[in-house]
Amino acid sequence: MYERVTSTLGNRPDAISHQEMRQRQKDFCSELPTNSVAIIANNPVSIRSRDTHHRHRFNSYLHYLTGWHGEEGVAVFHHSDGNWNCRLYVQPRDVEKETWTGRRPGLEGALSGWPVDEATSRYELAENLPKMLSNCEEIYHIEGLDASVDEIVKQALRDEPLDPRLILDNLRVIKSEREIELMQHSADLAAYAHIEAMRECKVGMGEWHMQSIIEGCFLYHQSEWAYPSIVGSGDNATILHYNENKDVMIDGDLVLIDAGCEIDGYASDITRTFPVNGKFTEAQKDIYELVLKSQLAGIEACQAGSPWSSMHNATSKILAQGLIDLGILDCTFEEALGDSFNGLYRQFFMHGTGHFLGLDVHDVGGGRQGDGKPERILTPGMIVTIEPGLYFGAWREDIEIDSKWAGIGIRIEDDVLITENGPVVLTAKCPKEITEIEALVGSN
Ligand code: GLY
Ligand code: MN
Ligand code: MN
Repeated sequence: MYERVTSTLGNRPDAISHQEMRQRQKDFCSELPTNSVAIIANNPVSIRSRDTHHRHRFNSYLHYLTGWHGEEGVAVFHHSDGNWNCRLYVQPRDVEKETWTGRRPGLEGALSGWPVDEATSRYELAENLPKMLSNCEEIYHIEGLDASVDEIVKQALRDEPLDPRLILDNLRVIKSEREIELMQHSADLAAYAHIEAMRECKVGMGEWHMQSIIEGCFLYHQSEWAYPSIVGSGDNATILHYNENKDVMIDGDLVLIDAGCEIDGYASDITRTFPVNGKFTEAQKDIYELVLKSQLAGIEACQAGSPWSSMHNATSKILAQGLIDLGILDCTFEEALGDSFNGLYRQFFMHGTGHFLGLDVHDVGGGRQGDGKPERILTPGMIVTIEPGLYFGAWREDIEIDSKWAGIGIRIEDDVLITENGPVVLTAKCPKEITEIEALVGSN
């Protein structure tokens, strides 16, 4: 009898407290030079069709600093000689508009319900902000979110504004205890959603049925997807961002599901790959075991004090050697691996080993950083994904492979917390051993 495994999901942790957001504001403002202003606007609303909009998702920086989600919300921070102030510009109450588009906290509601010093009508921004900017030394602003703020900043400046993300990303990259609790809950819910999909999976079901089980599970728990769910069976699994999810799942094929949810904005990101009929073929098993070995090595490399690249170095060496051992690559290990980004094995593993995870699924902080900065050192409180894969698209004209591997696409992805005592796999509740998967798939 079908029963939601998510009934065992624990209580949802409380959202980030106002006290914690105040501390974030303080940490942020203390990095701003004296007499500077930082403006953090919400994401724009985008049109889906004519007068219907895409579901709005708050801006992660605004959420991080204030928890405010209201459309057209703008937070303005002023820092001077160690004192700082956060003023939130919001839409004022308007019963007529609220009747159509929903209740607004208004100015009083914003001031009493959010961790800010002042709340002002959004309609006063055009008058207030230019005055404030004309009296400050430095302006921090993220362009491209709110056109009217962009215009005000442009009028106030001859040069480009400074980028507040350079400061905020360093704060966001290390997660607090509460953030970790929220991300653990997000990981648990996504794990259970994958388990439900595995239990329900039968030959002849559509990829969209898997998607509906997973996303229904998110919705049932007042969550939603953190990124469009990928359900790719057969050759579709070899297309990295496939999310049409429109094909019927066939006997003998694998299905790759990459799906995660959000809890208070915090993402989970899980990929599992399993046989539609519940039993791996020998060829599928060979590739699955290799990807799993590589993934476990990647997780083991998640040690505090290690450089970011150690995770990719660990996964890539195993994949390169494994492809030679299986006879898929006929070359030396050095040729297979290259510098780990250009070896022959990259024909079959073309993406990175992982990324930071947090309020954005591809979270801020950039492990390799670039711009001449050194790569990041793994530090307790960081959360990363480890997600090696191998893809042998039968449709690919650029690769030559034995037909027994054609149409196999496998990725295994977990979310990992870096701690002083080694890696903690937040998504450990989601099975990935072959025996566990074979027992689970189609078992309902
Ligand atoms: N789901 C997106 C990723 O794995 O990076
Ligand atoms: Mn990922
Ligand atoms: Mn993913």
